[in-house]
Amino acid sequence: MGETIIAKVFRYDPSKDKAPYYKEYTVPWQADESGFMTGLQVLHYIYENIEPIAYDYNCRGSICGRCSMVIDGKPGLACYTALQPGHHTFEPLEGQPIIRDLMIDRKPVMKKFVETEVAKKTLNPVEKSEDIEYDLYWNTLERLNNCRECMLCYDVCPALKINDHDYIGPGAMMQVAFRHLDPHDEADRVQQAVFSGLWKCVLCGSCELVCPAQIPHVKLLTILRDEAKKRGMKPEGSDNYNFWKNDPTEDGQAEDNQTREEGSNEYGEI
Ligand code: SF4
Ligand code: SF4
Ligand code: FES
Repeated sequence: MGETIIAKVFRYDPSKDKAPYYKEYTVPWQADESGFMTGLQVLHYIYENIEPIAYDYNCRGSICGRCSMVIDGKPGLACYTALQPGHHTFEPLEGQPIIRDLMIDRKPVMKKFVETEVAKKTLNPVEKSEDIEYDLYWNTLERLNNCRECMLCYDVCPALKINDHDYIGPGAMMQVAFRHLDPHDEADRVQQAVFSGLWKCVLCGSCELVCPAQIPHVKLLTILRDEAKKRGMKPEGSDNYNFWKNDPTEDGQAEDNQTREEGSNEYGEI
């Protein structure tokens, strides 16, 4: 036998399994023209040639966000994860209800995305495209509009791991930021952000690092926090997170964010 991928896949059928388990499958190496085999191709091979396993996908092109999972310990899109021969582990996104195997129930997080639209007001539509400032449109609004709703940012967010009741999470918060910056929208998105847990975020930037839409999360979270702070909407107790309390120049967190901002210059100024 030629080169192979040994895929260790998380299996769990809540209707009959007492607990999750892992099962190994041997998949012949079938590189495409780019020289890789994607995680999704490996799963397709198992499904079509060995036995059915449950996973989600649609576009196969890094657009729909439905194939998000954890491969070799890293959250990513299976259709965009290039693998080489050898051992690889496939697991569902952490912290979400499992429907079966690698397929998670997206409804609880999708509900948070939908809730961000509540009270949207469009009183003065921008009629001509030239009325929207170029950088704002292309470098921010378009990027935010490209959110795949893949939930990868939910997998890595430490604020959600501490408490997922008081925070809508990074993806939905980016939609609040989107509407805050959108000239079509006249609702008070800063207030909405604060009520949705803006100060629960620890500004770690993990969401930004996994985001396939390259949304500059930290910069946008910081814009919302600056506005909230200006308006006195920084609740008691948020100092627990230690960001604004200390001199930012002495705060390692702040320096990390600076580096990240410099790295995101390709997205232009916001
Ligand atoms: S920056 Fe905030 S929202 Fe993003 S992963 Fe860190 S805590 Fe979560
Ligand atoms: S913000 Fe990025 S990581 Fe989060 S759901 Fe949208 S595309 Fe995925
Ligand atoms: S199948 Fe659509 S993003 Fe992977």
